[in-house]
Amino acid sequence: MKILLIGSGGREHALAWAISASPLCDRLFIAPGNPGTAQCGENVVLDIADHGAVASFCKLQGIGLVVVGPEGPLVAGLADDLAAAGLKVFGPSKAAAQLEGSKAFTQELCAQFGIPTAGFGRFTDADSAKAYVAAKGAPIVIKADGLAAGKGVVMAETLEEANEAIDMMFGGGLGAAGAEVVIEEWMIGEEASFFALCDGTNALPLASAQDHKRVGDGDTGPNTGGMGAYSPAPVMTPEIERRTMEEIILPSIRAMKARGTPFRGVLFAGLMITVEGPKLIEYNVRFGDPECEVLMPRLAEDVLDLLVASAEGRLAGRTAAWKPEAALTVVFAAENYPGKPVTGTEIRGIEAAEAKPDVLVFHAGTKRDPEGRLLANGGRVLAVTALGRTVREAQAKAYDALAAIDWPGGFHRSDIGRRAVEREEGRG
Ligand code: AMP
Ligand code: GLY
Repeated sequence: MKILLIGSGGREHALAWAISASPLCDRLFIAPGNPGTAQCGENVVLDIADHGAVASFCKLQGIGLVVVGPEGPLVAGLADDLAAAGLKVFGPSKAAAQLEGSKAFTQELCAQFGIPTAGFGRFTDADSAKAYVAAKGAPIVIKADGLAAGKGVVMAETLEEANEAIDMMFGGGLGAAGAEVVIEEWMIGEEASFFALCDGTNALPLASAQDHKRVGDGDTGPNTGGMGAYSPAPVMTPEIERRTMEEIILPSIRAMKARGTPFRGVLFAGLMITVEGPKLIEYNVRFGDPECEVLMPRLAEDVLDLLVASAEGRLAGRTAAWKPEAALTVVFAAENYPGKPVTGTEIRGIEAAEAKPDVLVFHAGTKRDPEGRLLANGGRVLAVTALGRTVREAQAKAYDALAAIDWPGGFHRSDIGRRAVEREEGRG
């Protein structure tokens, strides 16, 4: 089968690495891809926003499955337009992608179907939003309804901060994403990510992970797309996983089907594990980045077979086996990220890092210059990943590999996995 994978991040390099290892994969194209995906298949230049052009490419090449990595094209309806052209797609329709595209949509769904989440209110004007905040009190969480590239959430510790955030969002500070504002109860607990493959009717639990959103050690500084991750998340015990499937994932899949907008693809639940059990913070409708970089190395299955089963509605009765090892990834980012990153700096020594046992280096924002040198070309540049018997061991291997990479223009957190290691060592 020929595959077209859409995207260019570390997530897509991890997917390309796993898909290209499948005996079912005859040829893999990645659009636009990066120098890492170029080692797994053929990068192609396609305007992803031009759905007709993507469909034409697929017809011409005889693509058997399109795998959509990021949320943007899904929310824009790429899966719908490709399906209408008779193509098979891994990833949800535009209507089903509302689970990520609109926080208000997901909150209403949770309220209607009794799915545990934060209490909330939704508003289209500042006065009623402020009145709600005044009634509920601080701390409280203020969210822009639409996609805001991770910047749409303000954790307000005081009423003043809450009111400021409301003014910022309704004042157009986040563009159209802030036209509607969702205000939520601040939930207390430990966060984890959980992934399930869905085919419209069935959901197959995959695995858990924990991300590190803040840019600095000790969870300080501004939010990023994610500075590192590990899998599995120790807080996701088998009992919490079971409750997550029964109380959150499966009711959501049934609800989406009942609405006439069945969800196919990977459902990524951002969870708060509270004293009452798992509660949904948010859904994403795609693999996480960098979570995918720790999930793919742990998967002991043919990933392509699973993605095709999801796209074809054949997940009933399927299970997915995982390696017993833990995986940990450290993101190597360009100076000044998450602000405007300093790009064009040269990266050397990736081969030395990759030569170490149980290590994989996934590319995100990299490019090759005409001389073949590898240059930084984005904020998050590399995801240095290792497998180990424990998170501690995976952490040691990942940081050892990272030390072999010669990139003065980059920085990384030095405490990825700290919480899990403390737990492993009985200090958590
Ligand atoms: P989101 O963009 O919805 O994932 O929110 C970003 C981060 O804000 C989450 O990863 C949580 O750390 C935090 N967060 C969002 N909503 C809540 C909430 N209702 N209670 C506590 N923390 C939250
Ligand atoms: N790492 C979080 C995300 O992919 O949304």
